[in-house]
Amino acid sequence: MIYSAKLNIDYIPFVDVDLSKILRRHVRLDLERNVDPNLVNMLTNLGLTVGHAEVFYSCPGFTSSVAHIDGQSPKYMWESRVKLNYILGGSASTMSWHDIGSDEFCKSFSNSLIGTQYVSYDLNQCSTVHSANLSGWNLVETGVPHSIQNLGSDPRYCLSLFIREHRSWIGFSRALELFGQLVM
Ligand SMILES: [Fe+2]
Repeated sequence: MIYSAKLNIDYIPFVDVDLSKILRRHVRLDLERNVDPNLVNMLTNLGLTVGHAEVFYSCPGFTSSVAHIDGQSPKYMWESRVKLNYILGGSASTMSWHDIGSDEFCKSFSNSLIGTQYVSYDLNQCSTVHSANLSGWNLVETGVPHSIQNLGSDPRYCLSLFIREHRSWIGFSRALELFGQLVM
């Protein structure tokens, strides 16, 4: 199982965004104004569109008591769903992926601060299957319960792009196929 893949692309992550003003956990960005058009063009050439762009801010010392899956599926069985993320700062941060066992438990369907959907799970009842200290551009698996910790002293900013093919999520194997030689 692949949880993340670093990409060799050097587009800047933020255009006209003052990160020092981002103090909320989750902020929506304006795709036209705040995302490098060269990056959007590159994605268009791969046959991808961007559904929305958002920033997740994790302050120094940030931990969470929940894991979540991006989007909503009525079923327990999740499906691979890839997002394109750029992680800036958070030098000691980790993204972890979790197994919730075979039973459906403590599941809540929620809407985020910016109106996106997710399913959350009590982290106490999850076991961690993989952790990674991510930086720069990465494809990340968001269809498996995941969580962030930032126990270091620098803030972590994650630009997250919901990339779609034919208006649908793409899975990891399809993402690796599409991004091809850009995968490090
Ligand atoms: Fe997520």
